[in-house]
Amino acid sequence: MPAPGRAWPLVGRAAELDDLEVQLTEATDGPGGAVLLEGEAGVGRTSLVDELESCARLLGIRVRSGRTALGELGRSVDDGHARLVVLEDVHAWDDGELAVLAEASADGFPARTLVVLTLRPVPHRAAVTHVVSRWTRAGARYLELRPLPSPSAVELAEAIVGASLGPALRGAVSTAGGNPRFVVDIVTTAHDTGTLGAVEGGVDAVVPGWRGEVEQTVRERLAYLGRDVLGLLSTASVLGVSFVVVDLAALADQNVEDVWRTLRHALAAGVVQARGDRLVFRHDVVRAALYGGIPDDERRRLHERAAWTLREAGAPRAVVSAHLERAR
Ligand SMILES: Nc1ncnc2c1ncn2[C@@H]1O[C@H](COP(=O)(O)OP(=O)(O)O)[C@@H](O)[C@H]1O
Ligand SMILES: [Mg+2]
Repeated sequence: MPAPGRAWPLVGRAAELDDLEVQLTEATDGPGGAVLLEGEAGVGRTSLVDELESCARLLGIRVRSGRTALGELGRSVDDGHARLVVLEDVHAWDDGELAVLAEASADGFPARTLVVLTLRPVPHRAAVTHVVSRWTRAGARYLELRPLPSPSAVELAEAIVGASLGPALRGAVSTAGGNPRFVVDIVTTAHDTGTLGAVEGGVDAVVPGWRGEVEQTVRERLAYLGRDVLGLLSTASVLGVSFVVVDLAALADQNVEDVWRTLRHALAAGVVQARGDRLVFRHDVVRAALYGGIPDDERRRLHERAAWTLREAGAPRAVVSAHLERAR
């Protein structure tokens, strides 16, 4: 199994890479340019810019990365060389660094240079928003990196295990919602726990009981969301993959406005998406992980409360009794 670093090819990003290569060529031809590459945690920003850096090196373009590369942004460094400057995860930079970064856009982009900033949509911070506005006004392009389409997610999983996926493993991979980090977590956990076995035409999860390990890993990945958001999402996980916000408010004993205010961060992070008055978990594995992390007593209590809440709200009897069932 591949060690840290990527031992499998980049999948499903041909269009994004083409787009970035065009930006790189145009910017390094003379005028300079910038791209803001935003996407949820684990969606593959680093992998994509790594690939772009390799392309740049092949083209003889100098690559600079890391916070120390901030110094490369002054116009005065123009020495006639084409450059790619990659500034990763600016959402996590401190306010002082962000102030410098915001100011660096004041003179426009350095000549013959493409600057790529990568960031997550959360945590939401004023200093980050300020950088994004300043760079946007200066003409930076915005590129949102979306989750992989499901054929690409399967292709990624197959590249890691080196075989076709059997139905159980394929089903598990589909719970990743196209997030490559979750795909990698699922497949490597299955491997590391000795779950994988040869089946006709490929490899499948042939030993049960490994999902708990995956859920544990996923919970660790979610820690950045913070206690309030995670607490509320855990409560929501009792209601299912999609839930009505009013029901969540009742279940959590909070008012609807407060629930929306807290969940705004989960929405921005791409953990849930809004569908009218409902919210939907974007990755089933996240819902399962949060649900699996609720202590037994608490989970029973929440199911019981959900049963009453939903009955009050006029939910079908079968839904109510399913909650009562799990409250035992
Ligand atoms: N398009 C892709 N093809 C193959 N592997 C990918 C792809 N995107 C991400 N990965 C893998 O998924 C994991 C998370 O990707 P990473 O680039 O670190 O995400 P981010 O920087 O957005 O948090 C890494 O293990 C990476 O190798
Ligand atoms: Mg990264």
